[in-house]
Amino acid sequence: MVHESIPKSESQVKRVRLALVGLGNVGRRFLRHLIERDDTLSEKYDLAFSVHCVVDSSGVAVSDDGFDLNRLLEHKARGLKLCELPEFCEGLALAGALDRFPCEILLEASPLDLDTGDPGLSNCRTALEHGLHLVLANKGPLALAHEELDRLAADAGVGILYSAAFCGGLPVLNIIRRDMVCGEVLGLRGIFNGTTNFILEEMLHGRAYADALRETRERGIAEADPSLDVGGWDTAAKLVIAANSFTDRMITISDVNVTGIEDVQPDRLQQCRRDGSVLKLVATAERVDTEWRFRVEPTPVPIASFLGGCSGWEMAVEIQSDMYGRTFHKLWEREPVPTAASMVRDAVHLATMGRQASL
Ligand SMILES: NC(=O)c1ccc[n+]([C@@H]2O[C@H](COP(=O)([O-])OP(=O)(O)OC[C@H]3O[C@@H](n4cnc5c(N)ncnc54)[C@H](OP(=O)(O)O)[C@@H]3O)[C@@H](O)[C@H]2O)c1
Repeated sequence: MVHESIPKSESQVKRVRLALVGLGNVGRRFLRHLIERDDTLSEKYDLAFSVHCVVDSSGVAVSDDGFDLNRLLEHKARGLKLCELPEFCEGLALAGALDRFPCEILLEASPLDLDTGDPGLSNCRTALEHGLHLVLANKGPLALAHEELDRLAADAGVGILYSAAFCGGLPVLNIIRRDMVCGEVLGLRGIFNGTTNFILEEMLHGRAYADALRETRERGIAEADPSLDVGGWDTAAKLVIAANSFTDRMITISDVNVTGIEDVQPDRLQQCRRDGSVLKLVATAERVDTEWRFRVEPTPVPIASFLGGCSGWEMAVEIQSDMYGRTFHKLWEREPVPTAASMVRDAVHLATMGRQASL
């Protein structure tokens, strides 16, 4: 028997107005997910997302009726800027756009900046001050100012979710925050950055560092500024985000000791291999007595271990907890499709549960 789903009427679905900052690799894939999962969103979650405000490096475009997402994607795929759209508003800032075209959720996917956090951090403040829930793919605002953003969200009665900011589509933070009920994390380590993991593996097989890095940029996995990947800073930002979900003190990126892979030479990789290990950029959160210590550094791990088996495009996380034992989580992500899916997941949770989703 064939089951035909009956489309829901306007009154049966909750319309949720979105604002999206960043229409690059991640932002565009998020929009594609919205188009492709439109029926699932309404049938399964009673939701209809519409996008009313979009921002790229040229500025802000707005649509009261909601953008035609296919047209928007075609426009960006042609390498054009928002300022070349009729909906572009010259001189309009995000705050002005949200005043005129209220939205419920802001999704932030602008480039990572770990010095000032901007433009992401300012956009997050603006969104929270306008009473919007926040979904972050951008790690910068969390790595620098998570505590402040939590305070602003509490004042506004809204939620912040950021599963896309930690290891792409891997729902590890959700597991720590929601599923390890009454448990405590005793330690965590992992390989959080696909770009460096791929480069190290390719170098071991004789490929030049610069050539491997070029491929990660072409696939949209590397940061717009790839020195954040190879310098270990992207990994450090993710370690901060993870640590702030399980330690009792909020840390920032300045609490992490960071060494990147820029100085790793092929002969070091070969020597590790002869010793039965493999060199990986490992992030570690370790409790020494009552103090937590955080570091990111190239580290030899046994080939036969969980992290040693984390190849090229994979990211991996090991968690040691008191009640839930030792858990191992791994994701293969070569393009940011799972990352963008995490933004859909977070948006659905906020749209259906509100602030409760982030507590
Ligand atoms: N790529 C991944 O695998 C991945 C995974 C997890 C998290 N992330 C995070 O997601 C975010 C986006 O990554 P991405 O790969 O999509 O980057 P991207 O391809 O470089 O895209 C960045 C987007 O932000 C826009 N932009 C640049 N400056 C801006 C500004 N001042 N105000 C508003 N928008 C601005 C760009 O505009 P134009 O279109 O005009 O250039 C572009 O649309 C980053 O924070 C990254 O760390 C990425």
